[in-house]
Amino acid sequence: MAESAAPSLVIVLAAGEGTRMKSSLAKVLHPVLGTPLLGHVLREVGTLAPEQTIVVVGHQREHVTDYLAGDYPDVRTAVQEAQLGTGHAVRCALTALAEQGIEPGSGTVVVTAGDTPLLTGATLAALLAEHRATQAKATVLSADLPDPTGYGRIMRAADGSVTGIVEHKDATEEQRAVREINSGVFAFEAPALASALARLDTDNSQGEEYLTDVLGILHGDGERISAHVAADPEDVHGINDRVQLAAAARVMADRVNTALMRSGVSIPDPATAWIAPDVQVGPDAVIERNSWIGPGCIVGEGAVIGPDTTLVATTVGAGATVLRSHCDHAVIGAAATIGPFTYLRPGTELGEKSKAGAYVEIKNATVGVGAKVPHLSYVGDAQIGDGTNIGAATVFVNYDGVHKHRTVVGDDVRIGSDTMLVAPVTIGDGAYTGAGSVITDDVPPGTLALGRARQRNIDGWVERVRPGSPAAEAAHRAASDPAHDTDE
Ligand code: UD1
Ligand code: CA
Repeated sequence: MAESAAPSLVIVLAAGEGTRMKSSLAKVLHPVLGTPLLGHVLREVGTLAPEQTIVVVGHQREHVTDYLAGDYPDVRTAVQEAQLGTGHAVRCALTALAEQGIEPGSGTVVVTAGDTPLLTGATLAALLAEHRATQAKATVLSADLPDPTGYGRIMRAADGSVTGIVEHKDATEEQRAVREINSGVFAFEAPALASALARLDTDNSQGEEYLTDVLGILHGDGERISAHVAADPEDVHGINDRVQLAAAARVMADRVNTALMRSGVSIPDPATAWIAPDVQVGPDAVIERNSWIGPGCIVGEGAVIGPDTTLVATTVGAGATVLRSHCDHAVIGAAATIGPFTYLRPGTELGEKSKAGAYVEIKNATVGVGAKVPHLSYVGDAQIGDGTNIGAATVFVNYDGVHKHRTVVGDDVRIGSDTMLVAPVTIGDGAYTGAGSVITDDVPPGTLALGRARQRNIDGWVERVRPGSPAAEAAHRAASDPAHDTDE
């Protein structure tokens, strides 16, 4: 591989078991703000534009591999059958690549872990910059932590130069007093890494091949090694249990919210706004309390989301409002109004200035410009034209018990309240349906369709059949007092 500003290879270590998660789901697949831990790492790694990225998988590797195949098809995997240490894991990655004819050559290799979702591309770039500026053979990303317990400690000589890393379990009391820790993220010159990996032993308290020993070996060779102290120690927090998982989500959400507010988005209650890092939000949008905006969402300028709204892979146009609603893979046009209590399912496309009101469910349907579904309706597998109004409690009867069928409603149609549109059926432009109709046949343009039983009034029924009841007494009063008589 050619030497360039970008690393020739990034190795992501993700073979460990993650015992403390106490989960049947692989640790690196646990989500933070809707994206697996590993996905956050790969997104940030991607900003370095490495020539190759490889993930070392072991425990529950089928699930991890499936995830990568779907979301990161260009990322390779190496299998580490038994977890014999971080150094062994890196060697597995290099061996797997060599078997595919890929050699990192004289380039730079970045190693990181799959469980550090808060590590940013900016911090990785700063690590690489320091690695280059100091012309080191290896540079570790370190951090000063108030409580360094459990982490490897950075060893420095009296002149401040880095001499190696000592694992917590192998450290003396004096070494444990050091608060500068190893984040587990490194930049290496490939030949130096390969040379040192070949010399790792398992002569330590855990009987593992430690990647951290590479630094001491290179120092012993007289090579230059460096440490770059992370500007934000939160970047390096690895996730080991679900308490740390939740804490990382909060940190990530705060970072997203702060950046959005600085860009001109209002978030009146940031503590209850959960917005994924890749979400685009336009200026003057307002994200009200208790709202979740997951990966892949786009929110237009001046739109108002929430309170109490969930958006999943949904696009909201400029100036639209989405109040107390759940929207999943929907596209909401500019200035549309949604909610409260509206459920938009995959395939919903709402036109500009359209409305989906209270207790309305829509799936796989397009709703035209200015069209309205204001109250208590189900719209499934349908096309609704511009300017059309769907009366309250209308149901698009799309399912015959075996198959789904489509309904097409034209422009400027008036569907009466409580209409059953039994699909497949087409309602022409400008047509009307009477309230309570069951529509089973196509309605031509401009036609009024009535599909309901004629009403029959049975005189005096209440006084005959329910004598003495409050209803009968009310009826009796109405008959004797002309002021109450509603019959003309
Ligand atoms: C490691 C470092 C320690 C550092 C800490 C930061 C070593 C020897 N120690 O310790 O200095 O402070 O990370 O979090 O490197 N993994 C594999 N295969 C293995 C072992 C680990 O893929 O055989 C992966 C794990 O899935 C994880 C990462 O490597 O993503 C780190 O492994 P872990 O066991 O958590 O190392 P620590 O003991 O925390
Ligand atoms: Ca760890």
